[in-house]
Amino acid sequence: MMTSGANLLRHDDASGMTVVVIMGASGNLTRTKLAPALFSLYRKGRLPDDVRVIGIARDTMDHGQFRVLLRESIADAGDEEWEEFAGRLTYVSADVTDSGTLKRVYQEIAKSASEQSDTLNCLYYLALAPGLYEPVIHALSDAGMTDEAGGWRRIVIEKPFGSDLLTAQRLNRHVHTVFREEQVYRIDHYLGKETVQNLLVFRFANSIFEPIWNRNYIDQVQITVAEDVLVGERGEYYDRSGVLKDMFQNHLLQLLALITMDPPYAFAADALRNEKVKALSAVRRMSLRDVRENVVIGQYDGYHFEPGVSPGSHTPTYAALRLYVDNWRWHGVPFYLRSGKGLSRKTTEMIIQFRSPPHMLFPVPDDVEIPGNTLSICVQPNEGMRLEFQSKVPDADLEMKPVSLEFHYDEGFSGVELPDAYERLLLDALEGDASLFTRSDEIELAWSIIDPIVHGLDLPGAPAPFRYLPGMDGPPNGEELLRSDNRRWLPGCVEVGYGI
Ligand code: BG6
Repeated sequence: MMTSGANLLRHDDASGMTVVVIMGASGNLTRTKLAPALFSLYRKGRLPDDVRVIGIARDTMDHGQFRVLLRESIADAGDEEWEEFAGRLTYVSADVTDSGTLKRVYQEIAKSASEQSDTLNCLYYLALAPGLYEPVIHALSDAGMTDEAGGWRRIVIEKPFGSDLLTAQRLNRHVHTVFREEQVYRIDHYLGKETVQNLLVFRFANSIFEPIWNRNYIDQVQITVAEDVLVGERGEYYDRSGVLKDMFQNHLLQLLALITMDPPYAFAADALRNEKVKALSAVRRMSLRDVRENVVIGQYDGYHFEPGVSPGSHTPTYAALRLYVDNWRWHGVPFYLRSGKGLSRKTTEMIIQFRSPPHMLFPVPDDVEIPGNTLSICVQPNEGMRLEFQSKVPDADLEMKPVSLEFHYDEGFSGVELPDAYERLLLDALEGDASLFTRSDEIELAWSIIDPIVHGLDLPGAPAPFRYLPGMDGPPNGEELLRSDNRRWLPGCVEVGYGI
């Protein structure tokens, strides 16, 4: 991947010591995502030579217990390679907002780095409750940990980045009092998924799709991010967020931006993000009336009984939206987005439906509608792509049948395991490539799209979420949204038997 402009500011990465400081290291994210990703990068020899990982959290643990905790989530680690990696892991039991303690930790890191070389690079990873972001950033600054005199300093910030436009703007301002934008890596793990990155390659490394990637040829676009899991242990957080803030503000709008953006002039962080910003700026903001006409929300039965959820909660666990992108490329093309928990299966896919041929030469019965070509991009599971087109049935009178061209990662790249999104993103952050991270203006634009919808749904008289049974495909009203446009949710990869 080409490097971003920010790389010009890089210090000599390879020669010095690089420390990944995980703030909030005893939590779930560190165990389930960060540790496996770091270990896998280490095993592949992709981490800087002299890399250390320091976990900081309040829980009382020694280094050995921390290593055991992380080891549990990396089942496939051989003893020898694990021991080698574990030698680089240390743990400090401390309050991450206490600058005095951070300073002492930092002095020790700096001392041990200075024994090896003049360069010390630090990646601070905030694996914390969002309420701690501001105090921790403040503490890092007070502890002198953000000074770049002897090496780069970068910060990775997890979602949720704010809970609406105002809080996101406030957090951005706060972050910028300490870090320059080039030092900030706001993570959206969907951008680290192979298939999502491949969307860029598919669109911009092939010449046959871009000329037809517009309103002249595309009839509609559908994006589905379905989950079969319920909210589980995360009831308290989820009840404050709901599906619109938890999934649409970040993941679904990022997918939408990648589908609708214009080609960037280079594959470089700012060039790419400028185009995403333009695309998000063009998404039509909804008025109150638009919210009533273009949004369907649902809540799965039993949600109220989840721990942490308030009994009369109207928090949606499902939403379907019709959005428009008001620019020359996309004028009038509806984008249908849906996501929910407690649905029949876990799948993420984007379906691009092309227009039907303008004039049908072949005889078709009156009640048969010949659809336009369909391009399905399966992000997960069964990663790959499928293009459906009409073919003549052999030895029949001009009878047609849809057939498909398919590409599956496991066949096209057999033997190559798709890396977890965190692996790609951690490596990019260490290498100073912010292309797959969200810039401050993108985050704020995404909130400015979601805020009016959330406000519209909060107003007195707004419809309560429709109920659906876990295991269904959301409330039946999710279908109504499309039926009023004479459309329907198109069969996804699983329904058409893709990859099975
Ligand atoms: C997270 C959301 O950002 O993404 C979760 O907070 C959701 O609620 C998860 O389950 C889905 O990610 P993935 O990679 O499993 O599709």
